[in-house]
Amino acid sequence: MGHAMLDHDMPCPESIGLGISIPNRYTRRVADTKVGTRSETTGRAGSSSSEATDLRLWYRHVRDLTQQLCRTLATEDYVVQSMPDCSPAKWHLAHTTWFFETFVLSRAATSYVPLDPRYRYLVNSYYEAVGDRHPRPQRGLLSRPTVDDVYAYRSYVDQHVLDLVTEADEQEMASLAPIITLGIHHEQQHQELLLTDVKHLFAQNPLHPIYVTRTPPRQSKPSPMTWLTVEGDVHWIGHDGPRFAFDNEGPRHQEFIRDFQIASRPVTNGEFLEFINDGGYTRPDLWLSAGWSALQEQQWEAPMYWQRDGSAWWLMTLSGFREIDPSEPVCHVSYMEADAYARWRGARLPTEAEWEVAARGSEVNGNLLESGHLHPVAAPSSDAGRLQQMYGDGWEWTQSSYSPYPGYRPLPGALGEYNGKFMCNQYVLRGGSCATSTSHIRPTYRNFFPPDARWQFSSIRLARDVEL
Ligand SMILES: [Fe+2]
Repeated sequence: MGHAMLDHDMPCPESIGLGISIPNRYTRRVADTKVGTRSETTGRAGSSSSEATDLRLWYRHVRDLTQQLCRTLATEDYVVQSMPDCSPAKWHLAHTTWFFETFVLSRAATSYVPLDPRYRYLVNSYYEAVGDRHPRPQRGLLSRPTVDDVYAYRSYVDQHVLDLVTEADEQEMASLAPIITLGIHHEQQHQELLLTDVKHLFAQNPLHPIYVTRTPPRQSKPSPMTWLTVEGDVHWIGHDGPRFAFDNEGPRHQEFIRDFQIASRPVTNGEFLEFINDGGYTRPDLWLSAGWSALQEQQWEAPMYWQRDGSAWWLMTLSGFREIDPSEPVCHVSYMEADAYARWRGARLPTEAEWEVAARGSEVNGNLLESGHLHPVAAPSSDAGRLQQMYGDGWEWTQSSYSPYPGYRPLPGALGEYNGKFMCNQYVLRGGSCATSTSHIRPTYRNFFPPDARWQFSSIRLARDVEL
């Protein structure tokens, strides 16, 4: 899941409402080190004591945050798997720990003894090079290890990772820091998945459990949507430089983009309701063939988590069940629904290159995890006419297939399985969501999901061609 624009103060922890403690400032000398590159600040391979301190702080912060996100869960909530795509919270806690154990401790710490060698099989996600694994759809059948066992596993691995960093000399740090950094970003991806999986779990429950109590800001009128023109040119796309990025964000390369227009803000619930009321879910002419099949098979008649109550629509949120706010960005739609909606409006989805070019002038902030809303919020009308909400709220579907950039090379070894092997039958989403950490998102970030996936915070921003 480069932070040139991120060296700003993080919001006050109280604003999150989860009791999450976020230090005011992080120095990202180490945390942003790209895998396989040298340190940005020293310009040489190796470490200094301040680099090691920064890395330990950053590691601790992200590991603690995962546990903070579980603070409101009951023990029973940790265990259940609501569908094969989702994992129990307990599994996320263990798997992210396994990542550090497998790719850091087992390789770098020659004297390291696993707390339980069976975890290697139990919480491996998809790494063929690491060996066999427990079947994904059966993760919810694991009542053991217990939640307490998993927390003990986390403590055990954390202590060994922190000791390793403390004791590493410069040469050892040069190889350790990039892998630990990757593990930290991996953990941040799983923090978002943990939240979306808890939401899906709670949505299956007629009691509508509340993950965290919040009163959402309600705006009576959404900011008006306007079309912003972006000039065509040969543009540079993708990540370059010493700051951290996943391998799939590079190499930086040139792409020709024609003049196009992009919507100033995402599609709202109210606008999407017009699509529903116009028979959007009953008209095959609006849908891709695969989309129409998915609609029929999965009986879609509205975004995920929407429920009709007479003439009103309600939706499930992490703060419980409530009536929809027409001014909020619509969320939990599949690529298929986003595409059908765009066609109905006489528009289209942006390509990922268009999205990236359009986003360049926008600061990387917005309704991200730190805001604490854990749900999209309406665009402020004070910023009407400007490009709004490029970051946070909901991931924005693009019309681009998730494919390798020209010259792409996966990381060597087992970590080459991290991104590259999923480059088939998925679409790219951009911009992060209300469950994404600010330090985890950047203009070049490429998220990806299959076109019928709906349980992530996924939204719609329209684009259209400029008539020549
Ligand atoms: Fe993972």
